Amino acid sequence: MQHSCFPVTPVTQSRLARVDFDNLGFGSIFCDHMFSMIYENGSWRNPEILPYQALALEPGVAMLHYGQTVFDGYKAFRGEDGQARIFRPGRNAQRLYDSCQRLCIPIMPAEELRDIMIQATRQLIELDHAWMPAQWGHSLYVRPLVIATEATLEVRAASSYRFIIMTSPVGGYFANLKKGVSLRVEDRFTRAASIGGLGAAKTAANYAASLLPGAQSRAQGFDQVLWLDSNEHRFVEEVGAMNILFKIAGKVVTPPLGGSILPGVVRDSALTLLDDWGIAVEQRPIAIDEVIAAFASGELEEVFGAGTAAVICPVASIGYRDEVFTVANTPPGELTLRLYDELTGIQYGARADTHAWNVCLPLPEMQD
Ligand code: COI
Repeated sequence: MQHSCFPVTPVTQSRLARVDFDNLGFGSIFCDHMFSMIYENGSWRNPEILPYQALALEPGVAMLHYGQTVFDGYKAFRGEDGQARIFRPGRNAQRLYDSCQRLCIPIMPAEELRDIMIQATRQLIELDHAWMPAQWGHSLYVRPLVIATEATLEVRAASSYRFIIMTSPVGGYFANLKKGVSLRVEDRFTRAASIGGLGAAKTAANYAASLLPGAQSRAQGFDQVLWLDSNEHRFVEEVGAMNILFKIAGKVVTPPLGGSILPGVVRDSALTLLDDWGIAVEQRPIAIDEVIAAFASGELEEVFGAGTAAVICPVASIGYRDEVFTVANTPPGELTLRLYDELTGIQYGARADTHAWNVCLPLPEMQD
């Protein structure tokens, strides 16, 4: 079912002229419009598109105190054929639904949420099409967000919520994507509890937990954190805000989704492509000792992260307990590059979308 168009209150003055498309960075510029919907008295209502604006929130709202909030992220790409392609928004809608379940947010049924998200994204792109970057590697990042808006200091699920979808023209997430990022293995702090925690939900708490170790990594000269499990500090979980994959002796190994790892859409896409190509993938626990042993034996061929922001991100080195191990094949490795090229090719419409991942819509011609 397609949702009919949502009512629009357009901006009176666009901010587009102030955007420097040569220096987009990641996620600090927001398009003119946003989608909004509210939950009150037991139902979701008032879906509409409004000028991007500040939210009026009382200091007592539950989200600010107890973190009852979830978000997601997906991208839309401007193809050379004049079409916008939204990459797998249905998957992200399902994940947002799952995150809401975990955070006790009374979201609408999954199918309805998916239809609303896709329709809202289409309308936002149509309205703000001129904000969609044309340069390869740049895209329109779509950020849905659900927050608890009831003012209460009681620790319980709130009775009112706001659902926003905002869009942001973005460049690459990492400046040094070509040469690969350096990781520091974090064997003290964890991003999420390995059993029964919030790790599989895209919620603020996991990102808050990552800030101190992230800052410590950067202070020690590393780009990102390699997360281990919270029980034994032994098994690899994620890298920074991405899923992680290793190529060891010709096989791809990645940790399984078991509740502590975010079910990444790019992870799933990469695994699908590897399967298409007949490349063996093992989804199994991988101990940091096994990674270090593979470095030592020269069998660790490639390491890369997979996430929406960076797509596929090569890893150049891993620091563990005062030693830095360098990945054998100078990044990006052959498979890393193949996956990056295929995924970005599909996203920009340069390669066949054999799995029908893209939701396409025509764009008006760009004005000079
Ligand atoms: C992703 O790349 O998938 C992310 O979630 C990154 C975002 C938190 C900036």
